[in-house]
Amino acid sequence: MNKAVIFDLDGVIVSTDGYHYKAWKLLADREGIYFDKDINNRLRGVSRRKSLEIILEKSNSSYSEEQINEMLEYKNNIYRKSLKSLTRNNIIENFNELYNVLRTNNVKLAIGSSSKNTKTILRQLELLDKFEAIADGNDISKSKPDPEVFLIAAKRLNMNPVDCFVVEDAIAGIKAAKAGNMIAIAINDATKSALADYKIENLLEIKNIVLGGKS
Ligand code: BG6
Ligand code: MG
Repeated sequence: MNKAVIFDLDGVIVSTDGYHYKAWKLLADREGIYFDKDINNRLRGVSRRKSLEIILEKSNSSYSEEQINEMLEYKNNIYRKSLKSLTRNNIIENFNELYNVLRTNNVKLAIGSSSKNTKTILRQLELLDKFEAIADGNDISKSKPDPEVFLIAAKRLNMNPVDCFVVEDAIAGIKAAKAGNMIAIAINDATKSALADYKIENLLEIKNIVLGGKS
């Protein structure tokens, strides 16, 4: 039977979390809005626009569409400057080994990320041509926990959702995978989700989950 693994990008293949946090914090400080790591955790897997809406929950002001767009651009410019320092050395430990084992066993591999910067990041990591399908923030109208991004990835792989494993660090991403009828593998923050089918500490555990005894 054909199997596929759809990887989230931020927090699964590369730790861009700190860059997102730094950029949002600079924006929040500029606007005089309270922002901390707990609020930042709620932004995992969530689109840029939705992330800003969550941050603005702590503000008493109302903002025009123009101001919102300016804030989104301000944050993204800072974030994109940080991305320039990314190299393949920033790929999360054990991802390359996992990738090689899955490829050798003919497992189809895709990216399913809410980020509109997905291709920039993959290029920096020298992974851009390594996946059979990429679905990202530019393809979707509904952010995780909606399953749209994973369903697009599965379609591009020509796979049934039930044969797709999704690897996620975001609770919203686990919800999205389950809403899409996929098998959800949680790492880091996502392990708090009761919906996850598997909870892992190390990417290499995915070998056994997907391949069973075969590796
Ligand atoms: C997700 C991140 O991968 O992408 C979120 O987990 C982020 O924190 C979202 O908000 C959108 O990213 P971008 O690069 O389009 O601003
Ligand atoms: Mg993530």
